[in-house]
Amino acid sequence: MKAAHIKQYGNIDTLIVGEVSKPSITASQVLIKVKAAGVNPVDFHIRNGMLKDSGTHELPLVLGWDASGVISEVGDLVTGVKPGDEVFVYAPLTEQGAQAEYIAVNADVVAIKPKSLSFIESAAVPLAALTALQALTAHGQLQKGQKVLIHNASGGVGNFAVQIAKHLGAHVIATGSEAKKDFIMGFGADEFIDYKQDDFEQHVKDVDLVFAAVGGNNIVERSLGVIKPNGRLISLLDEIDEQFAKDKNVNYARMLVEPSKAGLNKITDMLESNQLKVTIDSVYSLDDAKQAMIKSESARATGKIVIEVS
Ligand SMILES: NC(=O)c1ccc[n+]([C@@H]2O[C@H](COP(=O)([O-])OP(=O)(O)OC[C@H]3O[C@@H](n4cnc5c(N)ncnc54)[C@H](OP(=O)(O)O)[C@@H]3O)[C@@H](O)[C@H]2O)c1
Repeated sequence: MKAAHIKQYGNIDTLIVGEVSKPSITASQVLIKVKAAGVNPVDFHIRNGMLKDSGTHELPLVLGWDASGVISEVGDLVTGVKPGDEVFVYAPLTEQGAQAEYIAVNADVVAIKPKSLSFIESAAVPLAALTALQALTAHGQLQKGQKVLIHNASGGVGNFAVQIAKHLGAHVIATGSEAKKDFIMGFGADEFIDYKQDDFEQHVKDVDLVFAAVGGNNIVERSLGVIKPNGRLISLLDEIDEQFAKDKNVNYARMLVEPSKAGLNKITDMLESNQLKVTIDSVYSLDDAKQAMIKSESARATGKIVIEVS
């Protein structure tokens, strides 16, 4: 089958679009004929070798862990889904990816795709929306009436985070660049800070939660100063010392998004009731997977990048 894959770790030149073996399934897996696959920063981090020394992956490795498609085979122990079902999934990063004609994945992380969304829109959702949901709820414990600062509200994760935080009844302060202000405010953010012009510390204090959906520029450590005593700080990228945060009276966690069928079902409810909208930055063919990854690596996307497979 055709797939965007690597045979060695390294820069963008290691990405190949070409033939790899079609996967076979175990008793607990389903085979999905992929219609579209999402593109996320973790794809190029893994290509660069983020998990190289963990022994997790075998090469060749198919990249991309978000997919929408149609189930073509189910394992003997699988219940609840059947061939022909239209599904979407954030597949485990420890396994083969989705930028391919087929992906084999454990049935327990696969959810029925939102009916009101196309396959392309559905492929844009899983990893980014699950990250936003898990960051704000399980990790951030955001409650109605609380104040949250979301760093990077224009990226794939951040625009879902603004919408989910508003859905939870929070007051949302969002950062982005001036050119993306209307886009961010359009999702209901209450306040906007231009990260290129302003230091957020000058405008924000006493928030209950900071969600850092971007790294660099000491953003995580600097955020400690704008959080209420016993407030929370969730980082997606950069790490700080946990004890250092504790000494400042902040509950800090560097999170890693988990695959979750239940989470996807919650997100589907929000999408189907128009409480959550999907923004597609760009769509590429599988042959152009390299261009899609270059766009992702530029960190300039507004919303999500998707590869249309079939
Ligand atoms: N730990 C996890 O489980 C997990 C899960 C998902 C993502 N992540 C990480 O989280 C980060 C965000 O992911 P993503 O998919 O949302 O990325 P993305 O879509 O590539 O983000 C692109 C956006 O970031 C904005 N941006 C860049 N620097 C910024 C800054 N300093 N402040 C505010 N906005 C800024 C850009 O706006 P401009 O073009 O206007 O600059 C652009 O719109 C990535 O680093 C990713 O690796 C981690």
